[in-house]
Amino acid sequence: MAWTDTPFTRRLGLRFPIVQGPFGGGLSAVDLAVAVSEGGGLGSFGAHHLDGAGIRDVVTAIRARTARPFNLNLWIPFDGSDALTADASTFARWLAPLKPYFEELGVALPEPPARYSPRYAEQIDAVLAARPAVFSFVFGIPAADVLARCRELDIVTLGAATTPAEARALAAAGVDAIVATGFEAGGHRVSFLRPAEQVLTGGLALVPQVADAVDVPVVAAGGIADGRGIAAALTLGAHAVQIGTGFLACRESGTHDAHRRALLGPAAEDTGLTRAFSGRLARGIRNRFMDEIGAGPIAPYPAQGWLSGRLRAAAIAQQRTDLMSLWCGQSAPLLQQAASEAFPAAGDYLQRLVAETDAALSRFHSRPL
Ligand SMILES: Cc1cc2nc3c(=O)[nH]c(=O)nc-3n(C[C@H](O)[C@H](O)[C@H](O)COP(=O)(O)O)c2cc1C
Repeated sequence: MAWTDTPFTRRLGLRFPIVQGPFGGGLSAVDLAVAVSEGGGLGSFGAHHLDGAGIRDVVTAIRARTARPFNLNLWIPFDGSDALTADASTFARWLAPLKPYFEELGVALPEPPARYSPRYAEQIDAVLAARPAVFSFVFGIPAADVLARCRELDIVTLGAATTPAEARALAAAGVDAIVATGFEAGGHRVSFLRPAEQVLTGGLALVPQVADAVDVPVVAAGGIADGRGIAAALTLGAHAVQIGTGFLACRESGTHDAHRRALLGPAAEDTGLTRAFSGRLARGIRNRFMDEIGAGPIAPYPAQGWLSGRLRAAAIAQQRTDLMSLWCGQSAPLLQQAASEAFPAAGDYLQRLVAETDAALSRFHSRPL
């Protein structure tokens, strides 16, 4: 299978050029990362919500079950997001739009926290100490000394770009490979040079532009959920693909069944971009929370994520899909299955992707268009 032999798979010793997209906010899972890495792809764990000890625990759990390469992922802080503070009146102003939802779900109003997110410096130390095969990141470029340390430790760095300019900036900083992220993708828009709302390029246009802009391997992300998408991305110049939504729907992911059912059902045909859940623009299934909160004032990241996180457990426990974040990319309708079917296993999904890519590429070569 010649398509599996790319600079990306060679560098990492992977059987297939398929990366399981990392998920933040507790939606990654050791089981999922292990299943994908053992299956010959690159399993990932999104660790931006974890402190140093949490990252160490995850790495220990993954290494106990696979010796294959895996990827740890962090979010780069920006505009003071790592040290966001608020006085009592600012906190009250941020909380006010969410108050009716706390009351509706019967959740006590939160007190201001000591911090809104774990310390980035502590996270970086834990990632470097863990020495994963791959360190991937979004929302910016790590400091030069961090990238230098990754090179010394033989950690492959993987940065996300939503424009050719971002890809060039990452490559110029010495990042080893670029995830070209089209606006179809589920979860956050990972732009960092311009406001996310201003750069909504789709993958079909973005991937070849990024492939032309940089000399390092390109990983296509956004809108890919089957072998046709993988074949298309490779044809456009990508050396691998990163699939998020498709793996999120698998039974091993860290999300809950109501979310999985939504991803695999008709609701997933209607996604939108919103800042309502985290303060940063992200794609999910349109619902009441997105429409109502998205229309009003929203606290900055990461405060909004912390505040809506206080509602999350109650919304999940009460099966209130109208008030949950239902992150989802535009590819989800490609995954549809009957409600009676079991959720797919990640290893089976990976094998299906490989077989479909083979079929798509051989059809392309053996038949006139
Ligand atoms: C629920 C969810 C959470 C995500 N969290 C992260 C994250 O923390 N870090 C990251 O680099 N990418 C994150 N992503 C993006 C994925 O890793 C991947 O690039 C994207 O989902 C690919 O597009 P697709 O959803 O169309 O497959 C997330 C995606 C989803 C759906």
